[in-house]
Amino acid sequence: MGGEVVIEVSDLYKSFGDNHVLKNFNLRLYEGENLVVLGKSGSGKSVLIKCIINLIRPDKGQIVVLGQDISLLDQDELDHLRADVGFLFQSNALYDSMTVRQNLLFPLRRHWTRKRRDEYAEQAVMEALEDVGLAHTLHMMPSELSGGMKKRVALARTLILRPKVILYDEPTTGLDPITSREISELIVKVQHKYQTASIIISHDLSCIRHTANRVVMLLEGRCYAEGTYENLTRSDDPKIRTFFE
Ligand SMILES: Nc1ncnc2c1ncn2[C@@H]1O[C@H](COP(=O)(O)OP(=O)(O)OP(=O)(O)O)[C@@H](O)[C@H]1O
Ligand SMILES: [Mg+2]
Repeated sequence: MGGEVVIEVSDLYKSFGDNHVLKNFNLRLYEGENLVVLGKSGSGKSVLIKCIINLIRPDKGQIVVLGQDISLLDQDELDHLRADVGFLFQSNALYDSMTVRQNLLFPLRRHWTRKRRDEYAEQAVMEALEDVGLAHTLHMMPSELSGGMKKRVALARTLILRPKVILYDEPTTGLDPITSREISELIVKVQHKYQTASIIISHDLSCIRHTANRVVMLLEGRCYAEGTYENLTRSDDPKIRTFFE
């Protein structure tokens, strides 16, 4: 795969006591691609994503995001980088006491100037909601939304900052097949419309097949296998096969 590297994870180690979650994990995310990280529950997928956004500090290893080694950044520089790296939590993490509109305005408070907000914020909220097909929910509360709609609002809140990279932690888990399919289609739409690069954590085969340009398999703390979805499904390695049966 060619193109510029937007995230490079090298020789990453992370343990919690005796639980050695990541052991010499390596990964590269290239410009414009959707990379799925596949691994069973508890294998360290969320830990990996949290290391990338600096919520968890690794024990060892290097993480370079958009050309910057994140361990060397101060708080201001990290804040700045966060605007370029959107993150969809496994739980949607919407603010329950705020309307959809207020939820979307929230990230702009930190990342946009007052002047820019006064001029463009409302328009940006509408555009982001239209991107996810939910313009009509502007004044609704999160409690009035279905699980799939919450996911889409959470995605809109990420999109409003026009990130270069989006990290999705199990975007379709807990959703019915039709809603899952809609979310997968949205992920691909966003990739094409905004030329974002994404890491998608998932074990939903239909989501993986639909969204992945490339799949990395996380097993025993390492990148065990890597390839296209089709390549991996054709593998006769039993450790790989178990994911596809
Ligand atoms: N803050 C923490 N403190 C202690 N242990 C943790 C912490 N965060 C994660 N772990 C442990 O690290 C391991 C990997 O957790 P992680 O949440 O990354 O799994 P996962 O691959 O995302 O699983 P799932 O598919 O269920 O979301 C688990 O054994 C978990 O208990
Ligand atoms: Mg997880």
